[in-house]
Amino acid sequence: MRILITGGTGLIGRALIDRLLPEGHEIIVLSRHPHRASLPAGVQVVGWDARSAQGWAQWVEGANAVVNLAGESIAGKGPIPSRWTADRKRRIRESRLNATRAVVEAIGMAGEKPKVLVQGSAVGFYGGRTDDVVLDEDAPPGDDFLAEVAVQWEAASEPVKAWGVRRAIARTGLVLSASGGSLPPTMLPFRFFLGGPLGNGLQWWPWIHIRDEARAIRFLIEEPRASGPFNLVAPNPVTNREFALILGKVMGRPAFIPTPAFVLRLALGEMADLLLKGQRAVPKRLLALGFEFEFPELEAALRDLLL
Ligand SMILES: NC(=O)c1ccc[n+]([C@@H]2O[C@H](COP(=O)([O-])OP(=O)(O)OC[C@H]3O[C@@H](n4cnc5c(N)ncnc54)[C@H](OP(=O)(O)O)[C@@H]3O)[C@@H](O)[C@H]2O)c1
Repeated sequence: MRILITGGTGLIGRALIDRLLPEGHEIIVLSRHPHRASLPAGVQVVGWDARSAQGWAQWVEGANAVVNLAGESIAGKGPIPSRWTADRKRRIRESRLNATRAVVEAIGMAGEKPKVLVQGSAVGFYGGRTDDVVLDEDAPPGDDFLAEVAVQWEAASEPVKAWGVRRAIARTGLVLSASGGSLPPTMLPFRFFLGGPLGNGLQWWPWIHIRDEARAIRFLIEEPRASGPFNLVAPNPVTNREFALILGKVMGRPAFIPTPAFVLRLALGEMADLLLKGQRAVPKRLLALGFEFEFPELEAALRDLLL
């Protein structure tokens, strides 16, 4: 298959490439900095400005799949999450909308359209929550900043449906990887024997092992029945308190020193909600189509990643 990936230089994109490359697919990554991409040999890196179809749209012609993951980092570029300034919020929103509009424009121009668009999204679609309500893909959207971004991001890809392109939306949870994303900063206090729940620890963390994330996207590409939204989260989400206990156990560190909510709010402002709120999201539609998780349980996932 020919598979085009926007944001393919990121955490999820690289894991997806690792999954697809040995299967012999032609992989094309769109990057704003193609010369810096440093992707495995065999991946074709094509430059784009992430806002228009100019100069690269021909790669969509006859492609089997487009996977659209590009977007400004939600947590910030450094190892520690950073505050959402007005400018960062604008970039988080506009980078996703502009990139998606460009993808849609390119698909619209193609004579032979791709069979499927796997559209990026996040469980933040359901809003940051502190309740225990189980959220499958039928749950309504939330109304905070990230929920609004996710709703608009998904909606921007809607036009491809009218062209007969199957659209599967990947509402991804907290991706666990040893090499990036939210796990390394979460581990930091544990390393110094200061780990524990964040706030009251009752908020749900809908985690997914990076390998299952890549496997699930692969599944959405191939499964002809997969269209509409899919929660890409493990079938057993945990509360933040349970997450801390299991992480502490795997790291051989205590997990009983809480970080008070007000400290996180002082340090991170509105972005603290990313840690203090969550979603008890479940992968109802993936399971219904027969997807099998390699890591359904958190402890086994963390042991695999960290030991
Ligand atoms: N990781 C998670 O836990 C998680 C959870 C839920 C949803 N997601 C979503 O899934 C997508 C992929 O996640 P990820 O963790 O792989 O992200 P990532 O590591 O931050 O990579 C995203 C990629 O998007 C491109 N990008 C960054 N800023 C951009 C901008 N301003 N305009 C256009 N492109 C930009 C970059 O590629 P170039 O520099 O090569 O252009 C980057 O490699 C993201 O959109 C993210 O919101 C991730």
